[in-house]
Amino acid sequence: MTAHAPFHATESTTTTYWYDGRLVDQSAIVIDPFAHALHYGSGVFEGIRSYETPRGPGVFRLREHVERLLESAAAYGLDVPQSVDELCRATVETVRASGHESTYIRPLIFFGEGKFALAPRFQKNATHVMIAVRGFSGTIAPGGATGCRLTISPVMKTPSRALPSTVKGNGHYTNSILALHDAMDRGFDEALLLNERGNVAEGTGENIFLVKDGRLHTNPLEEDVLNGITRRSTITLAKDRGIAVEIAPISTAQLLAADEVFLTGTAAELVSVACVDEHRYPAARPITEALHAAYRTATRGGDPRHADWVTYV
Ligand SMILES: Cc1ncc(COP(=O)(O)O)c(C=O)c1O
Repeated sequence: MTAHAPFHATESTTTTYWYDGRLVDQSAIVIDPFAHALHYGSGVFEGIRSYETPRGPGVFRLREHVERLLESAAAYGLDVPQSVDELCRATVETVRASGHESTYIRPLIFFGEGKFALAPRFQKNATHVMIAVRGFSGTIAPGGATGCRLTISPVMKTPSRALPSTVKGNGHYTNSILALHDAMDRGFDEALLLNERGNVAEGTGENIFLVKDGRLHTNPLEEDVLNGITRRSTITLAKDRGIAVEIAPISTAQLLAADEVFLTGTAAELVSVACVDEHRYPAARPITEALHAAYRTATRGGDPRHADWVTYV
């Protein structure tokens, strides 16, 4: 088996930074080695993309990403000086300054210097806000063109009553790292985590969908999954095309009985799943392919029903 490999992605080696209110050179960013987030994961982040469009660079679903970022920040008591509008404007400014059309955008809000005890909100550690932009095109799709080889992970998805799955917290990702390292050690491309009830939760960085008898299925947020923005877009694009969408818990038996399975995420877009452990899916994936084509069109500003999904730079 081949290793977990990015599929025709190109990434710039330089990064453009906006930090605490303005565009800065990387050398101007000084992070204390005792930054709280570095030790305890007490930060939140986003992954956003801009695409090349006929009207220049367009950021896909910028407002939704910034809203989720600020909701995540609120969950940890990070006091963010900027509003949603201000962070949207700062993102556009940073993409423009990068000089790239097609980019990966990484906003990060974290507790920085101050005391090392475990109540950064009460002990008033500094809060920092960063937006980093790199040129990026293609997709980071586990498995590449032939489809992703998924394995059911022995690592359980952290229950939301331990770490709320709708919060995109830095520390939450140690759960994904354990699961992905284990999957890669065993020669798979990606791990599928089950929740504490033994139902399907999600991939290490993607939501999951399955197709059965022409209907699309995904699980609800109560199943310990991120409220993925690609997930939301996929549901809307399916409904636009008259495809019925059912949102209900998914058992491993339903997963194995599916006609098609795919993962969704900003970096991955829609990734077809070739197999789950020893179980292989049919090579024909008509609904996955139709929805991925629809998603590609929408991200490039080509879907008039969803023109408001793209913010031009
Ligand atoms: C755990 C997890 N689930 C799902 C997703 C997909 O979310 P989105 O479509 O908003 O990128 C991501 C990626 O951010 C993720 O990290």
